[in-house]
Amino acid sequence: MGQVYVMDHPLLQHKIAMLRDRDTGSKEFRELVAEIAMLMCYEATRDLPLQDVEVQTPVAKANAKMIAGKKLGIVPILRAGLGMVDGMLNLVPAAKVGHVGLYRDPDTLEPVEYYCKLPTDASEREIFVLDPMLATGGSAAAAIQFIKEKGVQKIKFLCLIAAPEGIKRLTAAHPDVDIYVAALDEKLNEHGYIIPGLGDAGDRLFGTK
Ligand code: PRP
Ligand code: URA
Repeated sequence: MGQVYVMDHPLLQHKIAMLRDRDTGSKEFRELVAEIAMLMCYEATRDLPLQDVEVQTPVAKANAKMIAGKKLGIVPILRAGLGMVDGMLNLVPAAKVGHVGLYRDPDTLEPVEYYCKLPTDASEREIFVLDPMLATGGSAAAAIQFIKEKGVQKIKFLCLIAAPEGIKRLTAAHPDVDIYVAALDEKLNEHGYIIPGLGDAGDRLFGTK
């Protein structure tokens, strides 16, 4: 059964507060998203399996540990998930990166897929799906469904801000997926925006409207 981890580290809370601020411009917003993703990556990779290795230091042999098996895969949900990729790659530079393109139909709020390209060996990797916002949960649930249909078995979902509605939908659709969030907000408004949230993550990252 998947778990929901709400990360409340002071650095995360501080950076999330800055992200929410409507006066934070795109440059600073992008930097903050990358920094938060890096901090979240540190925690979300806590259970990676290790293997024993022997390393020759300048003075002696050391029994040490390194990450075992295939490395990770990272799959941002386009567009806004792109903002989290560099932060993840800072810590796991060997990860391969796939992309799932979805947008939310503004009337139905249901996700519409327009792109899906994963690493060829995705099914042998643990995949971290990235999206700053989990609102109704439709986009994340659909993206994870596409990824599972390519044979991927181990998936974690990382988002910056989630609404309770999104957590409920995602855990119901994919009970095997662990969810990592930096802030769990109050609710959605009638347009499907997270309250208080941070507005439209894609627009704030890329300076569009
Ligand atoms: C945003 C966000 C998520 C989705 C969350 O993307 O980045 O992908 O909405 O909403 P949901 O949980 O209700 O599905 P959007 O559709 O605005 O596309 P964009 O990233 O291209 O701006
Ligand atoms: N997508 C966003 O970018 N923000 C929200 O609040 C909800 C969906």
